[in-house]
Amino acid sequence: MSSHKAEIKRITTHQLREMKNRGEKIAMLTAYDFSMAKIIDGAGIDIILVGDSASNVMAGHETTLPITLDQMIYHAASVVRAAKRCLVVVDLPFGTYQGSSSEALRSSIRIMKESGAHAVKLEGGKEVKESVDRILSAGIPVMGHLGLTPQSIYKFGTYTVRAKDDAEASKLMEDAKMLEQCGCFGIVLEKIPADLAKNVSSSISIPTIGIGAGPDCDGQVLVMQDMFGITKEFKPRFLRRYADLHKIMTDAVTRYIGDVKSKDFPNENEKY
Ligand code: KIV
Repeated sequence: MSSHKAEIKRITTHQLREMKNRGEKIAMLTAYDFSMAKIIDGAGIDIILVGDSASNVMAGHETTLPITLDQMIYHAASVVRAAKRCLVVVDLPFGTYQGSSSEALRSSIRIMKESGAHAVKLEGGKEVKESVDRILSAGIPVMGHLGLTPQSIYKFGTYTVRAKDDAEASKLMEDAKMLEQCGCFGIVLEKIPADLAKNVSSSISIPTIGIGAGPDCDGQVLVMQDMFGITKEFKPRFLRRYADLHKIMTDAVTRYIGDVKSKDFPNENEKY
């Protein structure tokens, strides 16, 4: 079948594994809307994650728990329309995969069909194995997420570093191997000691993507609003800010307000 569209080769899960094998780090960022996804994809990111962090940074909720499947699909479809090259991974939101594996499959199929995304991500280890197996059996690529899993915040009670003790560290290692064996194409490791992340990354053949998990993961992910410096209050040690958009945008709005109030905007050239 022929296509008239200009061919842009999309990153595949297979390529991500090749990147790990040759030691090339994988760059992943979150995005939730068309305009930002266009910039991020255009700059050459490998993976965009439509994270359920949308619940925090887009909707202003305190946790990731309230966001719905419909809302995730809305964000994901907007991102997919912009992303020409990167792989788009979408979080299964809280409550859409933990109940049963058939519900997990149904939710994943909705994401794939209604948004056009390329993969789903879910939180947890052996507790979600059945769901992971079922989703994978439908041919949907799955990314795992271990360590700090924000959908379980009310179980943990805090957002502090996970798996500092031996028992939790060895469970995390077992879960990572289990997810690899199931056929997941990658695993996010969130807020765990760097040595543990290094150990996990060298023990499995699929890429690990770290956030607050040190330099030896196979890739890194940050939430877009954090790395652009839009969120000012959030200052974890792992966060590097690449811009101060909070200041740039505040200055721009302040100047705009001044120009409107002083009747400087619009001027002669800015009217019809
Ligand atoms: O929802 C999200 O943004 C995430 C990243 C922090 C990995 O899961």
